[in-house]
Amino acid sequence: RYRKTIIAGNWKMNKTLSETRAFAEELKPLLGRPKWCEVVLCVPYVNIPAATRLFKDCRIAIGAENCHYESSGAYTGEVSAEMLKELGVKYVVIGHSERRQYYNETDFTVNKKVHAALEAGLRPIVCVGESLEQRELGVTLELINYQVKCALAGVPAEKMRHVVFAYEPIWAIGTGKTATAQEAGEVCETIRTIIRKLYGARVARAVTIQYGGSMNPKNAFELLAQPDVDGGLIGGAALKPDQFVEIINAAN
Ligand code: G3H
Repeated sequence: RYRKTIIAGNWKMNKTLSETRAFAEELKPLLGRPKWCEVVLCVPYVNIPAATRLFKDCRIAIGAENCHYESSGAYTGEVSAEMLKELGVKYVVIGHSERRQYYNETDFTVNKKVHAALEAGLRPIVCVGESLEQRELGVTLELINYQVKCALAGVPAEKMRHVVFAYEPIWAIGTGKTATAQEAGEVCETIRTIIRKLYGARVARAVTIQYGGSMNPKNAFELLAQPDVDGGLIGGAALKPDQFVEIINAAN
C-alpha cells in the first residue's frame, strides 16, 4: 500500500471534559488493534491535554479542529500550531466548511494555516467541498481544483506526505445525506489528479484523501472501498463509541 488509511473523528463543539473521559472508557474495550488504519480524534482545544493522556494506550492520535496561522502575537482567543504541537497533537483540521461558513475562513487563510501546521510539525487535514447549489450548477470539480490549488500554494513536494485532504460535500455534512460511493470516489480521484499535476505521480500516490459527510457504520465500507477514498472524517458517528469503532473496523 502506498498510503495509510486514516479514520478521523471530528467532535466539533461537542463533549465536556467529563464526557471525554466517559467516551474513552466506553471506547477502549470495544477497540481492537487497528492494523491498517490510523485512528485520530479531533477534539475541542480544552479537551486536548486530557485526550492525549486518555487515548495514549489505545494508540489513537489526537487532532485539533483549527489553529491560527501566526506562531504567536496579539490574536486574542487564538491558538497557534506550536502550542498544539507541544501538547502532543499530531493532526489539525484546516478549512472545515463550518469555519469557512461561520468564521470567515477563506482559501487564503487556509493556505496560511497549512503552512503554519507543517512548519510546526503537525499534519493538516485540509477540507474541501462544494455546496448543493455548486453541485447542481455542475461546478464541483472546478471548485475542488481551485480549493486544492489554493490550499497547497507554496507547499514544497517534500512536505506533501504530511498533508491529508478531506472531501466533504457541504450538503452531506450532518444531514444524513451521504454522497454515493461513486460521487465520493470521483471527487477524491480528482483531488489526486490535481496533486499529480502539481507534484508528480509518486507524491500523489502517497497522499491520504478522506471522505466526510454523514459517514456511518452502514455506508463506511462501500465508501472506503473506492480506490481513491483512503479514510473518513467523521462528525456525528464519532461521538458514539460503538459507531466510531464500527467505522474503524470497516477500514481494517
Ligand atoms: O468533519 C466532519 C464532517 O463535517 C462530517 O460530519 O459526519 O456529522 O456529517 P457528519
